[in-house]
Amino acid sequence: MSDTAKRSAKLTIDDQSIDLPIYSPTAGPDVLDIRKLYSQAGVFTYDPGFTSTASCDSTITFIDGIKGELLHRGYPIDQLAENSHYLEVCYLLMYGELPTAAELEDFEFRVTHHTMVHEQMMNFFRGFRRDAHPMAIMTGVIGAMSAFYPDSTDVNDPWQREVASIRMIAKMPTIAAMAYKYTIGQPFVYPRNDLDYASNFLSMCFAVPCEDYEVNPVLARAMDRIFTLHADHEQNASTSTVRLASSSGANPFACIAAGVACLWGPAHGGANQACLEMLQEIGTVDRIPEFIARAKDKDDPFRLMGFGHRVYKNFDPRAKVMKQSADEVLELLGVDNNPILQVAKELEKAALADPYFAEKKLFPNVDFYSGIILEAMGFPTSMFTPIFALSRTVGWVSQWKEMIADPQNKIGRPRQLYLGETSRNYTDIETR
Ligand code: CMC
Repeated sequence: MSDTAKRSAKLTIDDQSIDLPIYSPTAGPDVLDIRKLYSQAGVFTYDPGFTSTASCDSTITFIDGIKGELLHRGYPIDQLAENSHYLEVCYLLMYGELPTAAELEDFEFRVTHHTMVHEQMMNFFRGFRRDAHPMAIMTGVIGAMSAFYPDSTDVNDPWQREVASIRMIAKMPTIAAMAYKYTIGQPFVYPRNDLDYASNFLSMCFAVPCEDYEVNPVLARAMDRIFTLHADHEQNASTSTVRLASSSGANPFACIAAGVACLWGPAHGGANQACLEMLQEIGTVDRIPEFIARAKDKDDPFRLMGFGHRVYKNFDPRAKVMKQSADEVLELLGVDNNPILQVAKELEKAALADPYFAEKKLFPNVDFYSGIILEAMGFPTSMFTPIFALSRTVGWVSQWKEMIADPQNKIGRPRQLYLGETSRNYTDIETR
Protein backbone atom coordinates (compact mmCIF):
# COMPACT_ATOMS: atom_id res chain seq x y z
CA MET A 1 0.00 0.00 0.00
CA SER A 2 1.25 3.47 -0.84
CA ASP A 3 2.10 5.63 2.16
CA THR A 4 1.07 8.80 0.33
CA ALA A 5 -2.23 9.93 1.79
CA LYS A 6 -3.97 12.93 0.23
CA ARG A 7 -5.90 13.80 3.41
CA SER A 8 -5.36 13.44 7.12
CA ALA A 9 -7.40 13.60 10.31
CA LYS A 10 -6.31 15.52 13.39
CA LEU A 11 -6.50 13.69 16.71
CA THR A 12 -6.21 15.84 19.83
CA ILE A 13 -5.50 14.20 23.18
CA ASP A 14 -5.19 16.70 26.05
CA ASP A 15 -2.88 19.38 24.64
CA GLN A 16 -1.21 17.17 22.02
CA SER A 17 -2.35 16.95 18.40
CA ILE A 18 -1.25 14.42 15.81
CA ASP A 19 -2.12 13.93 12.15
CA LEU A 20 -3.43 10.55 11.04
CA PRO A 21 -3.21 9.84 7.28
CA ILE A 22 -6.46 8.91 5.53
CA TYR A 23 -6.35 6.46 2.60
CA SER A 24 -9.04 6.12 -0.02
CA PRO A 25 -9.64 2.54 -1.17
CA THR A 26 -10.90 1.69 -4.68
CA ALA A 27 -14.24 0.84 -3.01
CA GLY A 28 -15.60 1.12 0.53
CA PRO A 29 -15.11 3.68 3.30
CA ASP A 30 -11.89 5.66 3.79
CA VAL A 31 -9.38 4.22 6.22
CA LEU A 32 -7.49 6.04 9.00
CA ASP A 33 -3.86 4.94 9.36
CA ILE A 34 -3.15 4.56 13.08
CA ARG A 35 0.12 2.65 12.76
CA LYS A 36 2.15 5.47 14.35
CA LEU A 37 -0.48 6.27 17.00
CA TYR A 38 1.31 4.58 19.89
CA SER A 39 4.77 5.93 19.06
CA GLN A 40 3.44 9.47 18.55
CA ALA A 41 0.61 9.75 21.09
CA GLY A 42 1.27 6.86 23.51
CA VAL A 43 -2.26 5.41 23.19
CA PHE A 44 -3.79 2.28 21.67
CA THR A 45 -7.18 1.94 19.98
CA TYR A 46 -9.88 -0.33 21.45
CA ASP A 47 -12.00 -2.35 19.01
CA PRO A 48 -13.21 -5.76 20.29
CA GLY A 49 -14.44 -7.91 17.40
CA PHE A 50 -12.56 -5.62 14.96
CA THR A 51 -15.81 -3.91 13.94
CA SER A 52 -13.94 -0.78 12.80
CA THR A 53 -10.45 -2.05 12.04
CA ALA A 54 -8.90 -2.88 8.66
CA SER A 55 -6.26 -5.49 9.45
CA CYS A 56 -4.62 -5.52 6.01
CA ASP A 57 -4.91 -4.22 2.48
CA SER A 58 -6.21 -6.68 -0.08
CA THR A 59 -7.21 -6.84 -3.76
CA ILE A 60 -9.17 -10.10 -3.64
CA THR A 61 -12.73 -9.65 -2.37
CA PHE A 62 -14.94 -6.66 -1.60
CA ILE A 63 -18.24 -6.61 0.28
CA ASP A 64 -20.67 -3.69 0.46
CA GLY A 65 -22.92 -4.79 3.30
CA ILE A 66 -25.47 -2.03 2.79
CA LYS A 67 -25.92 -2.65 -0.95
CA GLY A 68 -25.70 -6.44 -0.47
CA GLU A 69 -22.78 -6.63 -2.91
CA LEU A 70 -20.01 -9.25 -2.99
CA LEU A 71 -17.26 -8.89 -5.59
CA HIS A 72 -14.39 -11.27 -6.32
CA ARG A 73 -11.61 -9.37 -8.12
CA GLY A 74 -14.40 -6.97 -9.15
CA TYR A 75 -16.84 -9.57 -10.51
CA PRO A 76 -20.27 -9.74 -8.76
CA ILE A 77 -20.97 -13.08 -7.07
CA ASP A 78 -24.34 -13.52 -8.77
CA GLN A 79 -22.69 -13.26 -12.23
CA LEU A 80 -20.03 -15.76 -11.19
CA ALA A 81 -22.61 -18.17 -9.72
CA GLU A 82 -24.72 -17.93 -12.86
CA ASN A 83 -22.06 -18.09 -15.59
CA SER A 84 -18.91 -19.52 -14.07
CA HIS A 85 -18.03 -22.57 -11.99
CA TYR A 86 -16.00 -23.27 -8.87
CA LEU A 87 -12.58 -24.03 -10.37
CA GLU A 88 -12.75 -20.98 -12.63
CA VAL A 89 -13.60 -18.86 -9.55
CA CYS A 90 -10.67 -20.50 -7.73
CA TYR A 91 -8.36 -19.39 -10.55
CA LEU A 92 -9.79 -15.87 -10.42
CA LEU A 93 -9.31 -15.61 -6.66
CA MET A 94 -5.79 -17.02 -6.74
CA TYR A 95 -4.36 -15.24 -9.77
CA GLY A 96 -6.48 -12.07 -10.06
CA GLU A 97 -8.00 -12.52 -13.56
CA LEU A 98 -10.45 -14.87 -15.27
CA PRO A 99 -8.43 -17.58 -17.03
CA THR A 100 -8.16 -18.07 -20.79
CA ALA A 101 -9.35 -21.49 -22.03
CA ALA A 102 -5.75 -22.79 -22.00
CA GLU A 103 -5.05 -21.41 -18.51
CA LEU A 104 -8.24 -22.97 -17.17
CA GLU A 105 -7.45 -26.34 -18.74
CA ASP A 106 -3.98 -26.29 -17.21
CA PHE A 107 -5.34 -25.26 -13.78
CA GLU A 108 -8.04 -27.94 -13.82
CA PHE A 109 -5.44 -30.51 -14.84
CA ARG A 110 -3.15 -29.52 -11.96
CA VAL A 111 -5.96 -29.62 -9.39
CA THR A 112 -7.41 -32.89 -10.71
CA HIS A 113 -3.99 -34.58 -10.63
CA HIS A 114 -3.41 -33.67 -6.98
CA THR A 115 -6.70 -35.02 -5.58
CA MET A 116 -5.30 -38.30 -4.22
CA VAL A 117 -3.85 -38.20 -0.72
CA HIS A 118 -0.74 -40.00 0.49
CA GLU A 119 -1.78 -43.63 1.04
CA GLN A 120 -0.41 -43.58 4.59
CA MET A 121 -2.94 -40.91 5.51
CA MET A 122 -5.50 -43.76 5.64
CA ASN A 123 -3.76 -45.00 8.78
CA PHE A 124 -3.95 -41.55 10.24
CA PHE A 125 -7.75 -41.53 9.74
CA ARG A 126 -8.03 -44.93 11.39
CA GLY A 127 -6.68 -43.48 14.64
CA PHE A 128 -9.90 -41.49 15.15
CA ARG A 129 -13.02 -42.78 16.88
CA ARG A 130 -15.76 -43.71 14.39
CA ASP A 131 -18.16 -41.26 16.06
CA ALA A 132 -15.73 -38.31 15.75
CA HIS A 133 -17.19 -35.17 14.17
CA PRO A 134 -15.83 -34.83 10.59
CA MET A 135 -14.62 -31.30 11.47
CA ALA A 136 -12.55 -32.75 14.34
CA ILE A 137 -11.01 -35.21 11.88
CA MET A 138 -10.40 -32.50 9.28
CA THR A 139 -8.72 -30.14 11.75
CA GLY A 140 -6.31 -32.93 12.68
CA VAL A 141 -5.72 -34.33 9.19
CA ILE A 142 -5.16 -30.95 7.53
CA GLY A 143 -2.65 -29.96 10.22
CA ALA A 144 -0.97 -33.33 9.64
CA MET A 145 -0.55 -32.60 5.90
CA SER A 146 2.68 -30.79 6.82
CA ALA A 147 3.99 -34.19 7.94
CA PHE A 148 2.93 -35.86 4.65
CA TYR A 149 3.99 -33.04 2.29
CA PRO A 150 7.09 -31.44 3.89
CA ASP A 151 8.37 -30.54 0.40
CA SER A 152 5.80 -27.71 0.20
CA THR A 153 6.12 -26.10 3.62
CA ASP A 154 8.81 -23.46 2.96
CA VAL A 155 6.77 -20.25 2.88
CA ASN A 156 9.70 -18.26 1.47
CA ASP A 157 9.80 -20.34 -1.74
CA PRO A 158 7.13 -19.16 -4.23
CA TRP A 159 7.15 -22.54 -6.02
CA GLN A 160 6.47 -24.43 -2.77
CA ARG A 161 3.72 -21.94 -1.93
CA GLU A 162 2.08 -22.66 -5.29
CA VAL A 163 2.34 -26.44 -4.85
CA ALA A 164 0.92 -26.24 -1.31
CA SER A 165 -2.00 -24.11 -2.58
CA ILE A 166 -2.91 -26.55 -5.36
CA ARG A 167 -2.54 -29.49 -2.99
CA MET A 168 -4.95 -27.95 -0.50
CA ILE A 169 -7.62 -27.06 -3.06
CA ALA A 170 -7.28 -30.52 -4.64
CA LYS A 171 -7.13 -32.66 -1.51
CA MET A 172 -9.65 -30.91 0.72
CA PRO A 173 -12.69 -32.65 -0.93
CA THR A 174 -10.89 -36.00 -0.67
CA ILE A 175 -10.19 -35.42 3.03
CA ALA A 176 -13.75 -34.21 3.74
CA ALA A 177 -15.22 -37.24 1.93
CA MET A 178 -12.84 -39.61 3.75
CA ALA A 179 -13.85 -38.07 7.10
CA TYR A 180 -17.47 -38.78 6.17
CA LYS A 181 -16.89 -42.33 4.93
CA TYR A 182 -14.87 -43.11 8.05
CA THR A 183 -17.63 -41.98 10.42
CA ILE A 184 -20.25 -44.13 8.62
CA GLY A 185 -17.98 -47.16 8.43
CA GLN A 186 -17.82 -47.35 4.61
CA PRO A 187 -14.64 -47.85 2.57
CA PHE A 188 -12.87 -44.75 1.31
CA VAL A 189 -13.68 -43.98 -2.35
CA TYR A 190 -10.73 -42.80 -4.46
CA PRO A 191 -11.08 -39.62 -6.54
CA ARG A 192 -11.97 -40.01 -10.23
CA ASN A 193 -10.08 -37.91 -12.77
CA ASP A 194 -12.89 -38.19 -15.35
CA LEU A 195 -15.26 -36.19 -13.14
CA ASP A 196 -15.43 -32.44 -12.52
CA TYR A 197 -14.61 -31.11 -9.04
CA ALA A 198 -18.19 -31.14 -7.65
CA SER A 199 -19.18 -34.48 -9.23
CA ASN A 200 -15.99 -36.05 -7.93
CA PHE A 201 -16.85 -34.90 -4.40
CA LEU A 202 -20.37 -36.37 -4.65
CA SER A 203 -18.88 -39.61 -5.94
CA MET A 204 -16.33 -39.82 -3.10
CA CYS A 205 -19.17 -39.25 -0.58
CA PHE A 206 -21.96 -41.39 -2.02
CA ALA A 207 -20.37 -44.10 -4.22
CA VAL A 208 -19.61 -47.55 -2.83
CA PRO A 209 -17.19 -50.06 -4.41
CA CYS A 210 -19.90 -52.69 -5.00
CA GLU A 211 -21.96 -50.79 -7.58
CA ASP A 212 -21.77 -48.01 -10.19
CA TYR A 213 -22.60 -44.48 -9.09
CA GLU A 214 -24.02 -41.96 -11.55
CA VAL A 215 -23.78 -38.32 -10.57
CA ASN A 216 -27.00 -36.38 -11.11
CA PRO A 217 -26.02 -33.22 -13.08
CA VAL A 218 -28.57 -31.03 -11.23
CA LEU A 219 -27.09 -32.07 -7.89
CA ALA A 220 -23.54 -31.58 -9.21
CA ARG A 221 -24.48 -28.07 -10.35
CA ALA A 222 -26.05 -27.29 -6.95
CA MET A 223 -22.94 -28.65 -5.21
CA ASP A 224 -20.69 -26.52 -7.43
CA ARG A 225 -22.80 -23.45 -6.56
CA ILE A 226 -22.45 -24.15 -2.84
CA PHE A 227 -18.67 -24.29 -3.34
CA THR A 228 -18.68 -21.11 -5.46
CA LEU A 229 -20.84 -19.09 -3.07
CA HIS A 230 -18.60 -19.95 -0.10
CA ALA A 231 -15.26 -19.50 -1.91
CA ASP A 232 -14.13 -16.28 -0.22
CA HIS A 233 -15.56 -13.59 2.01
CA GLU A 234 -12.94 -10.95 2.74
CA GLN A 235 -11.42 -10.73 6.24
CA ASN A 236 -13.96 -12.93 8.10
CA ALA A 237 -13.03 -14.75 11.34
CA SER A 238 -11.47 -17.88 9.79
CA THR A 239 -9.59 -15.93 7.09
CA SER A 240 -8.25 -13.52 9.70
CA THR A 241 -7.23 -16.58 11.73
CA VAL A 242 -5.30 -17.97 8.75
CA ARG A 243 -3.60 -14.60 8.24
CA LEU A 244 -2.73 -14.23 11.94
CA ALA A 245 -1.40 -17.79 12.16
CA SER A 246 0.70 -17.34 9.03
CA SER A 247 2.05 -13.95 10.16
CA SER A 248 4.49 -15.92 12.34
CA GLY A 249 5.83 -17.76 9.28
CA ALA A 250 4.02 -21.02 10.19
CA ASN A 251 3.64 -23.54 7.34
CA PRO A 252 0.51 -23.29 5.14
CA PHE A 253 -1.06 -26.60 6.24
CA ALA A 254 -0.85 -25.56 9.91
CA CYS A 255 -2.39 -22.16 9.06
CA ILE A 256 -5.29 -23.63 7.07
CA ALA A 257 -5.92 -26.09 9.93
CA ALA A 258 -6.25 -23.04 12.21
CA GLY A 259 -8.79 -21.58 9.76
CA VAL A 260 -10.76 -24.85 9.75
CA ALA A 261 -10.85 -24.82 13.57
CA CYS A 262 -12.15 -21.25 13.64
CA LEU A 263 -14.76 -21.93 10.95
CA TRP A 264 -16.27 -24.71 13.07
CA GLY A 265 -17.90 -22.27 15.52
CA PRO A 266 -21.71 -21.88 15.31
CA ALA A 267 -21.49 -18.10 14.73
CA HIS A 268 -19.42 -18.78 11.57
CA GLY A 269 -19.27 -21.94 9.44
CA GLY A 270 -20.96 -24.06 12.10
CA ALA A 271 -24.17 -22.09 11.51
CA ASN A 272 -25.37 -24.39 8.70
CA GLN A 273 -25.28 -27.42 11.01
CA ALA A 274 -26.74 -25.41 13.91
CA CYS A 275 -29.51 -24.17 11.60
CA LEU A 276 -30.59 -27.66 10.52
CA GLU A 277 -30.45 -28.87 14.12
CA MET A 278 -32.65 -25.92 15.09
CA LEU A 279 -35.14 -26.87 12.35
CA GLN A 280 -35.13 -30.44 13.68
CA GLU A 281 -35.71 -29.14 17.21
CA ILE A 282 -38.63 -27.00 16.03
CA GLY A 283 -39.92 -30.19 14.37
CA THR A 284 -43.36 -29.04 13.23
CA VAL A 285 -44.74 -25.86 11.70
CA ASP A 286 -47.06 -25.16 14.66
CA ARG A 287 -44.04 -24.67 16.98
CA ILE A 288 -42.53 -21.85 14.87
CA PRO A 289 -44.19 -18.97 16.83
CA GLU A 290 -42.70 -20.34 20.08
CA PHE A 291 -39.16 -20.25 18.61
CA ILE A 292 -39.64 -16.83 17.02
CA ALA A 293 -40.72 -15.54 20.45
CA ARG A 294 -37.62 -17.08 22.03
CA ALA A 295 -35.34 -15.44 19.42
CA LYS A 296 -36.88 -12.06 20.33
CA ASP A 297 -36.65 -12.57 24.10
CA LYS A 298 -33.68 -10.59 25.50
CA ASP A 299 -33.40 -13.01 28.46
CA ASP A 300 -33.13 -16.07 26.21
CA PRO A 301 -29.76 -16.69 24.51
CA PHE A 302 -31.51 -18.54 21.66
CA ARG A 303 -30.97 -17.05 18.17
CA LEU A 304 -32.48 -18.05 14.86
CA MET A 305 -29.53 -19.82 13.28
CA GLY A 306 -29.05 -19.02 9.61
CA PHE A 307 -30.37 -15.48 10.16
CA GLY A 308 -28.40 -12.23 10.36
CA HIS A 309 -24.89 -11.26 9.30
CA ARG A 310 -22.12 -9.06 10.67
CA VAL A 311 -21.56 -7.28 7.37
CA TYR A 312 -24.72 -7.66 5.26
CA LYS A 313 -27.39 -5.40 6.66
CA ASN A 314 -30.00 -5.57 3.88
CA PHE A 315 -29.61 -8.95 2.26
CA ASP A 316 -26.96 -11.58 1.69
CA PRO A 317 -26.35 -11.74 -2.11
CA ARG A 318 -25.19 -15.35 -1.75
CA ALA A 319 -28.50 -16.29 -0.12
CA LYS A 320 -30.46 -15.04 -3.15
CA VAL A 321 -28.62 -17.43 -5.50
CA MET A 322 -28.65 -20.24 -2.94
CA LYS A 323 -32.43 -19.97 -2.51
CA GLN A 324 -32.85 -20.46 -6.26
CA SER A 325 -30.63 -23.57 -6.09
CA ALA A 326 -32.60 -24.85 -3.09
CA ASP A 327 -35.85 -24.55 -5.06
CA GLU A 328 -34.32 -26.46 -8.03
CA VAL A 329 -32.95 -29.26 -5.84
CA LEU A 330 -36.15 -29.65 -3.82
CA GLU A 331 -38.19 -29.85 -7.01
CA LEU A 332 -35.83 -32.40 -8.56
CA LEU A 333 -35.79 -34.60 -5.49
CA GLY A 334 -39.52 -34.19 -4.87
CA VAL A 335 -38.96 -33.87 -1.12
CA ASP A 336 -41.68 -31.28 -0.53
CA ASN A 337 -43.22 -33.46 2.17
CA ASN A 338 -39.99 -33.55 4.21
CA PRO A 339 -41.12 -32.03 7.57
CA ILE A 340 -37.78 -30.28 8.20
CA LEU A 341 -37.90 -28.56 4.83
CA GLN A 342 -41.51 -27.52 5.46
CA VAL A 343 -40.47 -26.00 8.79
CA ALA A 344 -37.65 -24.16 6.97
CA LYS A 345 -40.01 -22.66 4.38
CA GLU A 346 -42.55 -21.54 6.99
CA LEU A 347 -39.88 -20.19 9.36
CA GLU A 348 -38.42 -18.10 6.54
CA LYS A 349 -41.89 -16.63 5.81
CA ALA A 350 -42.69 -15.99 9.48
CA ALA A 351 -39.36 -14.30 10.27
CA LEU A 352 -39.42 -12.11 7.16
CA ALA A 353 -42.92 -10.93 8.10
CA ASP A 354 -41.99 -10.15 11.72
CA PRO A 355 -41.16 -6.47 12.52
CA TYR A 356 -38.40 -7.50 15.02
CA PHE A 357 -36.35 -9.14 12.28
CA ALA A 358 -37.10 -6.36 9.78
CA GLU A 359 -36.02 -3.61 12.24
CA LYS A 360 -32.79 -5.39 13.13
CA LYS A 361 -32.18 -6.19 9.46
CA LEU A 362 -32.08 -9.93 10.09
CA PHE A 363 -32.82 -12.10 7.08
CA PRO A 364 -31.82 -15.63 6.02
CA ASN A 365 -28.11 -15.84 5.24
CA VAL A 366 -26.33 -18.21 2.84
CA ASP A 367 -26.19 -20.98 5.42
CA PHE A 368 -29.93 -21.12 5.90
CA TYR A 369 -30.39 -22.29 2.29
CA SER A 370 -27.17 -24.29 1.93
CA GLY A 371 -28.23 -26.44 4.90
CA ILE A 372 -31.59 -27.10 3.25
CA ILE A 373 -29.91 -28.20 -0.02
CA LEU A 374 -27.38 -30.42 1.74
CA GLU A 375 -30.11 -32.03 3.85
CA ALA A 376 -32.14 -32.74 0.70
CA MET A 377 -29.06 -34.22 -1.02
CA GLY A 378 -28.68 -36.69 1.83
CA PHE A 379 -25.70 -35.24 3.70
CA PRO A 380 -25.86 -35.59 7.49
CA THR A 381 -25.73 -32.25 9.35
CA SER A 382 -22.22 -33.02 10.60
CA MET A 383 -20.96 -32.74 6.98
CA PHE A 384 -22.30 -29.22 6.43
CA THR A 385 -19.36 -27.39 7.98
CA PRO A 386 -16.71 -29.62 6.33
CA ILE A 387 -18.33 -28.71 2.98
CA PHE A 388 -18.08 -25.02 3.89
CA ALA A 389 -14.41 -25.60 4.86
CA LEU A 390 -13.52 -27.24 1.56
CA SER A 391 -15.24 -24.43 -0.36
CA ARG A 392 -13.47 -21.70 1.65
CA THR A 393 -10.03 -23.29 1.25
CA VAL A 394 -9.37 -21.31 -1.94
CA GLY A 395 -10.21 -18.07 -0.11
CA TRP A 396 -7.85 -18.92 2.75
CA VAL A 397 -5.12 -19.93 0.31
CA SER A 398 -5.50 -16.81 -1.85
CA GLN A 399 -5.46 -14.48 1.16
CA TRP A 400 -2.48 -16.36 2.61
CA LYS A 401 -0.54 -16.07 -0.66
CA GLU A 402 -1.35 -12.37 -0.89
CA MET A 403 -0.16 -11.83 2.66
CA ILE A 404 3.12 -13.74 2.31
CA ALA A 405 3.98 -11.80 -0.87
CA ASP A 406 3.26 -8.45 0.84
CA PRO A 407 6.49 -6.67 1.87
CA GLN A 408 4.59 -5.03 4.77
CA ASN A 409 3.83 -8.44 6.30
CA LYS A 410 4.74 -8.52 9.99
CA ILE A 411 3.70 -10.74 12.88
CA GLY A 412 0.17 -9.95 14.08
CA ARG A 413 0.23 -8.79 17.69
CA PRO A 414 -2.93 -7.03 18.94
CA ARG A 415 -2.76 -4.86 22.05
CA GLN A 416 -5.20 -4.84 24.98
CA LEU A 417 -7.05 -2.67 27.45
CA TYR A 418 -5.68 -4.21 30.66
CA LEU A 419 -8.13 -4.16 33.59
CA GLY A 420 -6.41 -6.65 35.91
CA GLU A 421 -4.39 -6.17 39.09
CA THR A 422 -1.40 -3.86 39.00
CA SER A 423 1.98 -5.14 40.19
CA ARG A 424 1.89 -6.75 43.66
CA ASN A 425 4.22 -8.88 45.75
CA TYR A 426 4.03 -12.67 45.91
CA THR A 427 2.80 -13.96 49.29
CA ASP A 428 3.75 -17.31 50.87
CA ILE A 429 0.99 -19.97 50.86
CA GLU A 430 0.67 -19.95 54.69
CA THR A 431 -0.13 -16.26 54.77
CA ARG A 432 -2.95 -16.29 52.13
N1 CMC B 1 -31.69 -14.26 15.90
C1 CMC B 1 -32.22 -13.35 16.76
N2 CMC B 1 -31.67 -12.15 17.03
C2 CMC B 1 -30.51 -11.85 16.40
C3 CMC B 1 -29.90 -12.75 15.49
C4 CMC B 1 -30.53 -13.98 15.24
N3 CMC B 1 -29.99 -14.86 14.39
N4 CMC B 1 -28.76 -12.19 15.01
C5 CMC B 1 -28.65 -11.00 15.61
N5 CMC B 1 -29.72 -10.80 16.43
C6 CMC B 1 -30.01 -9.57 17.22
C7 CMC B 1 -29.12 -9.51 18.45
O1 CMC B 1 -29.74 -10.08 19.57
C8 CMC B 1 -28.91 -8.03 18.58
O2 CMC B 1 -30.06 -7.48 19.21
P1 CMC B 1 -29.91 -6.18 20.19
O3 CMC B 1 -29.40 -5.08 19.32
O4 CMC B 1 -31.29 -5.97 20.69
O5 CMC B 1 -28.94 -6.58 21.25
C9 CMC B 1 -28.88 -7.51 17.15
O6 CMC B 1 -29.64 -8.48 16.40
C10 CMC B 1 -27.49 -7.39 16.55
O7 CMC B 1 -26.78 -8.62 16.82
P2 CMC B 1 -25.21 -8.74 16.94
O8 CMC B 1 -24.88 -10.04 17.61
O9 CMC B 1 -24.65 -7.49 17.56
O10 CMC B 1 -24.79 -8.75 15.42
P3 CMC B 1 -23.43 -9.25 14.86
O11 CMC B 1 -23.23 -8.51 13.62
O12 CMC B 1 -22.34 -9.21 15.88
O13 CMC B 1 -23.73 -10.83 14.61
C11 CMC B 1 -24.09 -12.91 13.62
C12 CMC B 1 -23.80 -11.43 13.37
C13 CMC B 1 -24.04 -13.64 12.25
C14 CMC B 1 -23.03 -13.53 14.54
C15 CMC B 1 -25.51 -13.05 14.24
O14 CMC B 1 -26.49 -12.47 13.39
C16 CMC B 1 -25.86 -14.50 14.56
O15 CMC B 1 -25.49 -15.00 15.64
N6 CMC B 1 -26.59 -15.21 13.63
C17 CMC B 1 -26.86 -16.60 13.78
C18 CMC B 1 -25.63 -17.41 13.38
C19 CMC B 1 -25.46 -17.47 11.87
O16 CMC B 1 -26.39 -17.73 11.12
N7 CMC B 1 -24.19 -17.28 11.42
C20 CMC B 1 -23.83 -17.43 10.01
C21 CMC B 1 -23.36 -16.19 9.36
S1 CMC B 1 -23.25 -16.40 7.56
C22 CMC B 1 -21.95 -17.54 7.37
C23 CMC B 1 -20.61 -16.98 7.62
O17 CMC B 1 -20.25 -15.99 6.93
O18 CMC B 1 -19.88 -17.52 8.47
